[in-house]
Amino acid sequence: MAKTRTQFICQNCGTVHTRWAGKCDACGEWNTLIEEGTNSGIGSGPASMRSARKGRAVALTTLSGDIEDAPRIASGIGELDRALGGGFVRGSAILVGGDPGIGKSTLLTQAAAALASRGHRIVYVSGEEAVAQIRLRAQRLGVANTAVELAAETNVEDILATIADGKRPDLIILDSIQTLWTDMADSAPGTVTQVRSSAQAMIRYAKSTGAAVVLVGHVTKEGQIAGPRVVEHMVDAVLYFEGEGGHHYRILRTVKNRFGPTDEIGVFEMSDKGLREVANPSELFLGERHAKSPGAAVFAGMEGTRPVLVEIQALVAPSPLGTPRRAVVGWDSPRLAMVLAVLEAHCGVRFATHDVYLNVAGGYRISEPAADLAVAAALVSSLTGLALPADCVYFGEISLSGAIRPVAHAQQRLKEAEKLGFGQAVLPKGSEEISGGIGSGSFQPATLTDLVVRIAGSLRRNTDDD
Ligand code: TYD
Ligand code: MG
Repeated sequence: MAKTRTQFICQNCGTVHTRWAGKCDACGEWNTLIEEGTNSGIGSGPASMRSARKGRAVALTTLSGDIEDAPRIASGIGELDRALGGGFVRGSAILVGGDPGIGKSTLLTQAAAALASRGHRIVYVSGEEAVAQIRLRAQRLGVANTAVELAAETNVEDILATIADGKRPDLIILDSIQTLWTDMADSAPGTVTQVRSSAQAMIRYAKSTGAAVVLVGHVTKEGQIAGPRVVEHMVDAVLYFEGEGGHHYRILRTVKNRFGPTDEIGVFEMSDKGLREVANPSELFLGERHAKSPGAAVFAGMEGTRPVLVEIQALVAPSPLGTPRRAVVGWDSPRLAMVLAVLEAHCGVRFATHDVYLNVAGGYRISEPAADLAVAAALVSSLTGLALPADCVYFGEISLSGAIRPVAHAQQRLKEAEKLGFGQAVLPKGSEEISGGIGSGSFQPATLTDLVVRIAGSLRRNTDDD
């Protein structure tokens, strides 16, 4: 018989240590090592399999063959289906992560109701809330009369026994994975071992029956799902539900999808009656723009396959401090430092005695380097006090030499801008074939200096007009 030894598992990254330490040397996190029994440890398998057993031959099959039913079930909530790549894939497991209170349960209740009203069998298992609380939410969302089947349960074996009754469900929602526990493992719920074993059992159920399984996971302060970061590699798709405190919009971002594209987003707005789809995010992020205020530039960005226009706001003000401030919200600060350095070194624009504040409107976050050009335009505009044309969009990457480099999807960005009533664009020289529209009359600088000269030149034009 195997001797029971103790081992210590990092709740952050899942690394197994033989003795306790204050810091996990694999991921560098402090105080994440928890004692768990080896018999339930990772890799030990289900309890019944621990005693040596002769393998059973499984039938090998071919790639081609019949797949029952449509492979995807669409909810009809366009933004959700888009993020999933066209709907929930049958037999797949999906992890929906997000900060506590961001709206995961709300989103999934709405999805469950939408699917149930399309005639699918949906089971919603909550380990966090009582049935009455879920009913209250359903009432608030106006979906209390749909045929979603509900349970408040946390034991995996009990859940599996429950759903084995009757017709196979099309979708099972488990809210949340951190509350689940299985008899197979003997550590406490929420530990890596329990979370992994429970997820494994549910994924096995999904694969063997063809039901789709959604696992909800809470993200901890460190930006990782508590422990359950360890299930990311086990599931077929990983979606994160994000939002900025104080703003009502929420973004559902796909970071992994075995059956569809990643980098796709779905945009929602949280209202008093649940999440509302935002079909045109640009309108949301552009908000109320004040034309003719210096320091604002509209960036034509891309999120996955979809163009998104956002306003970038810069404030450059004389600084009383020896070391001027640089503050950024919604963008990378090293990237801002780089754009400032290029403006100083190659264009002769001085920021050394100025504080620089940069903000992306609407609390949106940009990760694309294509925003460089819009940021530079906003900075120069604020420093000089010259407002940029209100009907102009900017995109392009700035290299350290001061050259402006082409970015992908120029045509799509321009199309979106045109749709929203913009009349001009500033984009890199040598961008892909631009046909017609606002692209034909656009300004295409080869270097950042060309853009600075153009913005400064508008002063002369303005005074000439007077
Ligand atoms: P919830 O879905 O419970 O979050 P999670 O499951 O991710 O922890 O959403 C909680 C927040 O959403 C809560 O602060 C209240 C808000 N909310 C609304 O603003 N409108 C609504 O219709 C609902 C149901 C929730
Ligand atoms: Mg919840």
